[in-house]
Amino acid sequence: MAMLSISGLSVSFGGKRAVDDFNLEVGAGSLVGLIGPNGAGKTTTIDAITGFVPSQGAVDFDGTDISGLSSTMRARAGLGRTWQSSELFDDLTVMENLQVASERVDVRGFLRDLFRPRNDDVSELTKILDSLDLAGSADALPTDLSHGQRKLVGVARALAAQPKVLCMDEPAAGLDTVESQALGRRIRSLVDGGLSVLLIDHDMGLVLTICDYLYVLDFGQLIAEGTPAQIRADSKVITAYLGERHSDDHGDEHGVDTAVPAAPGGTPAVGGTTDG
Ligand SMILES: Nc1ncnc2c1ncn2[C@@H]1O[C@H](COP(=O)(O)OP(=O)(O)OP(=O)(O)O)[C@@H](O)[C@H]1O
Ligand SMILES: [Mg+2]
Repeated sequence: MAMLSISGLSVSFGGKRAVDDFNLEVGAGSLVGLIGPNGAGKTTTIDAITGFVPSQGAVDFDGTDISGLSSTMRARAGLGRTWQSSELFDDLTVMENLQVASERVDVRGFLRDLFRPRNDDVSELTKILDSLDLAGSADALPTDLSHGQRKLVGVARALAAQPKVLCMDEPAAGLDTVESQALGRRIRSLVDGGLSVLLIDHDMGLVLTICDYLYVLDFGQLIAEGTPAQIRADSKVITAYLGERHSDDHGDEHGVDTAVPAAPGGTPAVGGTTDG
């Protein structure tokens, strides 16, 4: 069953189509990758799915059309996201960042808070921190942590809201290869535990290793979809990553590796930052 399904999704900024008639599905308990060169429309797709930009087309979540709902209502329904840039409150500890994210702001919660102190049972949140190797950092401020740890706290924060589907926008950006592989294993085990994930990342080694299925956007349009093996061998994908058209975009923070090393078996691999 599809936990998340978008059809005919389009987003325009002024006269420009950032996402054009895009269809995508995330099955229950599956890990789906969304890749493409800089400016391809990946973040805009997640913004549209989670209700942060207006879009055309249908967004079905857990069997319900949510395209008319606000971002807050979508989050409350169980559609979580992480952000490409920092999302943490720097003056709150790691645990407090999770507590804020886990709180349901509704009338019942408001009345409860009036009559009794905030629920300080943090055992569930501790479990989340534990699963991401962050238990020792619960009382630290985000500014005391490494970049890699802050990215993990961003993931923990999203998990604190107990999403059914989590859209992750470049969780591995800025991590070194070892950190990125460790994060990949953690994401995979969350999915193996039942979470459904839509993952954007530029680390081809990561996405081609852990995803069940991938969609590739270029200039807002779907140019390929398939299993990692199919994507690895797709000539349109290789061209999109190596093409002249994107040469100006390379060398930015994402560090997209445009080398095309042979994968095991001699098939060209796209990117290839960590594996082949
Ligand atoms: N708020 C906005 N207003 C105008 N144009 C925008 C806006 N947000 C994104 N765009 C444009 O839409 C296109 C898609 O941008 P988007 O951020 O979705 O790309 P991306 O695939 O996430 O890229 P990256 O890999 O660099 O994060 C780009 O041309 C971008 O400049
Ligand atoms: Mg982006």
